[in-house]
Amino acid sequence: SQSQPQSSTLLEWYDHHARTLPWRISPADRAAGVWPDPYRIWLSEVMLQQTTVAAVKDYFHRFTSRWPTVADLAAAPDADVMGEWAGLGYYARARNLLKCARVVAQDYGGTFPDTYDGLIALPGIGPYTAAAISAIAFDRQETVLDGNVERVMARLYDVHVPLPTAKPQLKEKAAALTPAERPGDHAQAVMDLGATICTPRNPACGICPWRTPCAARAAGTATELPKKTPK
Ligand code: ADE
Repeated sequence: SQSQPQSSTLLEWYDHHARTLPWRISPADRAAGVWPDPYRIWLSEVMLQQTTVAAVKDYFHRFTSRWPTVADLAAAPDADVMGEWAGLGYYARARNLLKCARVVAQDYGGTFPDTYDGLIALPGIGPYTAAAISAIAFDRQETVLDGNVERVMARLYDVHVPLPTAKPQLKEKAAALTPAERPGDHAQAVMDLGATICTPRNPACGICPWRTPCAARAAGTATELPKKTPK
């Protein structure tokens, strides 16, 4: 049995239960050494901000069919991109998307920077997106913290401090768990765990790969966490 959660336990679960998503490399391709296209990871992460995976899938297919590379997107008329974005909401994201595509195409020769610092310097790329792209596309040891990851960490360590106050300590715990090997798969595995098992209302604790070390499961507090400061 385990007293401390291990990334290796989560990665083993991920190897069998990773969701099949249009921007993901299949396990077979991954084993063959295939890496994701940073353009596709960037596009998916921007779309996934404030929009569910289910809603993003069709948009992602349409965008990548119409504009297969960042240079293609950069060359598109604004109105075409805004039209293709219609329905996704948060239209500032689409404007920043185009701005970023044009900077990458014109100033970076169509190649995304491969570090957190390089990525965060681009328009529309904040701390979350820079960490996600550097981990997933470039396998850098960056910690990706979104709502799913916050919930998983709050439960794993039975953190009752409310959000947003708890954010720094949850990030610290997530960072301590991020492995040097396969940090990109680890990031996606925590997201999948939060989306499919460690869900807000009815977590499937009985089949969770981290059920043994989970402090909230032991305390019976999983469904109460994370706490939120009342508005
Ligand atoms: N939500 C945001 N980014 C994601 C990703 N890469 N995989 C699954 N869910 C996500």
